[in-house]
Amino acid sequence: MNKKMISPSILSADFSELGLEIERVEKSGAGWLHVDVMDGNFVPNLTLGMPVIKSVKPRSKIPLDVHLMIERPERYIEEFISAGADYLTIHVESTTDVEGCLKKIRNLKCKPGITLRPKTDLKEIEKYLPLVDLVLIMSVEPGFGGQSFMDEQLEKVKRLVEIRKTNPTKFLIEIDGGVNIETAKLCWAAGCDVLVAGSAVFKGEKTIANYTKNIESLL
Ligand code: DX5
Ligand code: ZN
Repeated sequence: MNKKMISPSILSADFSELGLEIERVEKSGAGWLHVDVMDGNFVPNLTLGMPVIKSVKPRSKIPLDVHLMIERPERYIEEFISAGADYLTIHVESTTDVEGCLKKIRNLKCKPGITLRPKTDLKEIEKYLPLVDLVLIMSVEPGFGGQSFMDEQLEKVKRLVEIRKTNPTKFLIEIDGGVNIETAKLCWAAGCDVLVAGSAVFKGEKTIANYTKNIESLL
């Protein structure tokens, strides 16, 4: 379908030099930039919010792929979009108005995405698929980088590939968590279009040469 893409998760970047880190991964072949927003409530961790996204936006030539792990995302949709999100992905478990959120994201000229926790059945998101441009499959429990890949989540990817054949929007399929040289191969084989990778991209020396090697090893 599309060209294979890596979306480095800035959660594993060195935040003391975030602008440089972004420049490095862009020059290393990153397709998108994955931004993990956590509220210490929907997930047991806190990360970053609108001000960081706003600062990152002018430093980034590639799309910002924003993954919201927050309760009731409807409270902040406008702000995340005006801060610079290109894709805005919400968790099906995080709101009682999933449809309203996705429509609002679309109306504000941003690309809506939907995601689910590993324990949530794919059926929970099926009715929303005509409304999204991106489906994110979580291959770890959301909350932290550096966890082990849950192989069984690939069944969801395979099922999505089938559903997409007759779905009105040709959403992209992205996977997030525990992606490394070995698990990346399984993700491509299952039919993913975009792989999020934090630790596997930002490991080792903070140079374009090293990040290029890390990204290429996942493609
Ligand atoms: C987990 C986050 C991931 C995480 C990926 O809640 O959504 O994006 O940063 O990190 P790695 O690639 O290290 O598993
Ligand atoms: Zn993420």
